[in-house]
Amino acid sequence: MKILVIHGPNLNMLGKREKSIYGEKTLGEIDALLKKEAQALNVEVVTFQSNHEGALIDFIQEQGDSAQGIIINPGALTHYGFSLLDALGDSKLPVIEVHLSDIYHREEWRAKSVIAPIAEERIIGSGWRGYITALQVLASKLNAEA
Ligand code: DQA
Repeated sequence: MKILVIHGPNLNMLGKREKSIYGEKTLGEIDALLKKEAQALNVEVVTFQSNHEGALIDFIQEQGDSAQGIIINPGALTHYGFSLLDALGDSKLPVIEVHLSDIYHREEWRAKSVIAPIAEERIIGSGWRGYITALQVLASKLNAEA
């Protein structure tokens, strides 16, 4: 079972970027923790980060057919990324939306997610642990369906 974990713009700066909001861990550390958890859950995780919406879409289109689910933190594209939304929808895969920070208690513009309508689950404000929870939830859903 293959799960795509997709990180949007600026998430490559984790560990340096607004640590009081996004935490101390780098993206590499988070991806390594996800891969460790994936081993324990006996699933394959393929991680990808880009600062470009088109590159995220290309990745979804290229990898979607061979994957069973998507975990995505779309970064600021959460709030206006309609082409990303379309690509996620077109993949027909179950999507879990993750945010490190609590987007409902920050600037008003962050409270709107254009991705939310197609997300099966949303894990918000739990820091890096939110990704691990997302992986556990998705793996158990997919296992239950298999
Ligand atoms: C974020 C929240 C977004 O508003 C922001 O633009 C990000 C990260 C989060 O993980 O909390 O880049 O998605």
